[in-house]
Amino acid sequence: GATKLWGGRFSGETDPLMEAFNESIHFDRRMYAADIRGSQAYAKALCRQGILTTDEQQALDSGLAAVLAEWQAGKFEIRSGDEDIHTANERRLGEIVGAVAGKLHTGRSRNDQVATDMRLWLRDEVEALLGFMRELVGALVERAQRDVDVLMPGYTHLQRAQPIRWSHFLLSYAFWFQQDAQRLEQFLPRLNQLPLGSGALAGNPFQVDREWLAQELGFSSVAPNSLYGTSDRDFVAEFLFHGSLTMIHISRLAEDLIIYSTAEFGFVQLADAYSTGSSLMPQKKNPDSLELLRGKSGRVFGDMTGFMMTYKGLPSTYNKDMQEDKEPMFDAVDTLTGSLQITTAVIATLRINADKMKQCLTGDMLATDLAEYLVRKGVPFRQTHHISGAAVKMAEDRGCQISDLSVSDLKTLHEAFEDDVLLVWNFEKSVDNRSSIGGTSRVTVQAQIDHLKQWLN
Ligand code: ARG
Repeated sequence: GATKLWGGRFSGETDPLMEAFNESIHFDRRMYAADIRGSQAYAKALCRQGILTTDEQQALDSGLAAVLAEWQAGKFEIRSGDEDIHTANERRLGEIVGAVAGKLHTGRSRNDQVATDMRLWLRDEVEALLGFMRELVGALVERAQRDVDVLMPGYTHLQRAQPIRWSHFLLSYAFWFQQDAQRLEQFLPRLNQLPLGSGALAGNPFQVDREWLAQELGFSSVAPNSLYGTSDRDFVAEFLFHGSLTMIHISRLAEDLIIYSTAEFGFVQLADAYSTGSSLMPQKKNPDSLELLRGKSGRVFGDMTGFMMTYKGLPSTYNKDMQEDKEPMFDAVDTLTGSLQITTAVIATLRINADKMKQCLTGDMLATDLAEYLVRKGVPFRQTHHISGAAVKMAEDRGCQISDLSVSDLKTLHEAFEDDVLLVWNFEKSVDNRSSIGGTSRVTVQAQIDHLKQWLN
């Protein structure tokens, strides 16, 4: 006990089982660089208050740089008793610079330190995730541009509904991922609030200049209350929610592509690089990448709910329960990092079968267009819906396609049908009619592509 950072008031030893239960170094070591960066800034802040001499500050600064170099070279040796990343770095600093290391923690607590480290660490990861999101949007947009001529059946309830452009389908996901990126960007100012200088809970007694610290560490604001500064983990909850939503989008795209890659659909084929075979059935090519994407979405959602269960009901300021906040954050970052990259690669390498998509366009998918034909002749839509429905039934009864009905057949249903009704049976025309903003026409799909391209630049 007495050898521990906090051991002064202790005489008994810690149970080794408790020691193992208590330590967080095996996961929070990931924040070593953030921890060192925070300490370097804090030493400067102490120096500005006259708590450290310039020599002392410089000794700490180069000592911390040496600790950093050890981590980076994979040479940092974790010792038993290195409870967490903060104690490990400080222990090593002491070995390198000697007694002056004991001045670093003046007025600071691991409570404001850990909150600062987490925000610093997550900030870099969010920037990286934003890059991966943009790459995914880029892959979708590039495909949408390349495949813009391809038509496919659009579905509601997974039943054939109306013809759409394949690109229109891809872009629907691109817009989701764009929103995910925008949400993360809007999250940054809330993430970028500095807890350092909150002390253990009550604030800093050496008047450290927190505005200066914020600037030094690239934070855009200062946590305005020290109890809040040490208690707050909303940024973890918010990040986990944003991550869950992104994974939901990824899982839905994965599910669509899994369905489209079955022999029954046959619209898409995954590149070998993102499929696996069966150990028993030689013919199998399974969309494992997509299934993993779909499965991993559950994992991030679990990170979020698990964390929130830990976070709720905590009394004010730091409680050791909060040590459980890091693993879900790390896991969500890792899962998102992998998932976004795999999704991008799957999209970029996907092979599509445009003929199969076209074969699945059936005349009944133009029944709405037939109703709209009559609308253009002045018949109220509610009536035209019934008339077109009767035409569908007539074709069904005769065992033919709706487009096989003659003009005189149609005339028995309504006198407004004329020879030009035959022009309705055209999938391209059906698609290009939908040319209001957001529609599936060539012009409006191109506008979506242009909009996203502009956002990407
Ligand atoms: N390892 C701890 C955590 O992750 C650091 C903060 C410890 N603070 C304390 N008062 N025990 O939460």
